[in-house]
Amino acid sequence: MVTDKWVVVGAGGHARVVMDALLFSGDIQNSYVFADDDVALHGVEMLGVTVLGSSTQLIQHGTRFHVAVGANRTREMLFSALVDIGGLPFAVTHSSACVSQFAKVAAGSFIAAQAVVAPTSVIGMGVIVNHSAVVDHDCRVGDFSHIAPGATLAGGVVLGRGVLVGAGARLLPGITIGAEAVIGAGAVVTANVGPHAKVLGVPGRVV
Ligand SMILES: CC(C)(COP(=O)(O)OP(=O)(O)OC[C@H]1O[C@@H](n2cnc3c(N)ncnc32)[C@H](O)[C@@H]1OP(=O)(O)O)[C@@H](O)C(=O)NCCC(=O)NCCS
Repeated sequence: MVTDKWVVVGAGGHARVVMDALLFSGDIQNSYVFADDDVALHGVEMLGVTVLGSSTQLIQHGTRFHVAVGANRTREMLFSALVDIGGLPFAVTHSSACVSQFAKVAAGSFIAAQAVVAPTSVIGMGVIVNHSAVVDHDCRVGDFSHIAPGATLAGGVVLGRGVLVGAGARLLPGITIGAEAVIGAGAVVTANVGPHAKVLGVPGRVV
């Protein structure tokens, strides 16, 4: 059941957001399928696109895929497994996002509607820059991180791998966040944060 269409892996809310971005940009439903390991979803149509099967059924060497799963670790595991079998990750950028020509966005990342990525920022692999999030100038966003809706990274912020920046959080200029840290929704981060830490509040405190 291998497909020659481009595969959006996942069939949840985030996957529908990614598919919506592809279709908004003028692509046609017929170019894509969803893949999901939940067999109960196989054959279901969402946004006019069918959930055709599981990712391992649909993807082989040379198949184009985008992992559209919100959870950072799950996204990374699926991405790595599909790259290992020769799948080719593609990035998705909503046509209303504003990505500087001097920014870099790596394979498999998603830049949502109204998001901004400013000059010379570098977005790693499999990253989500969600609706209306801002990545200001000279930031570095580690692989498989997620910058949730409305969050802002000021200039020169550095995120490690697999960081979650919650909705509406603010990171002050030049802050560094360690791998797999979680920044709570609405937090204002005023100092560097170590790996695996959880930060809440205004000003942000490690809890
Ligand atoms: C920070 C976060 C991960 C904490 O999750 P958690 O560890 O499961 O924490 P809980 O929900 O059990 O809450 C624990 C305590 O922290 C408080 N809390 C939770 N999130 C908070 C936040 N963002 N800011 C301030 N306090 C918060 C709760 O009210 C609770 O307080 P209490 O002990 O006095 O009752 C989560 O609340 C959060 O902000 N996630 C970001 C979600 C997001 O933006 N996702 C993007 C989706 S697109």
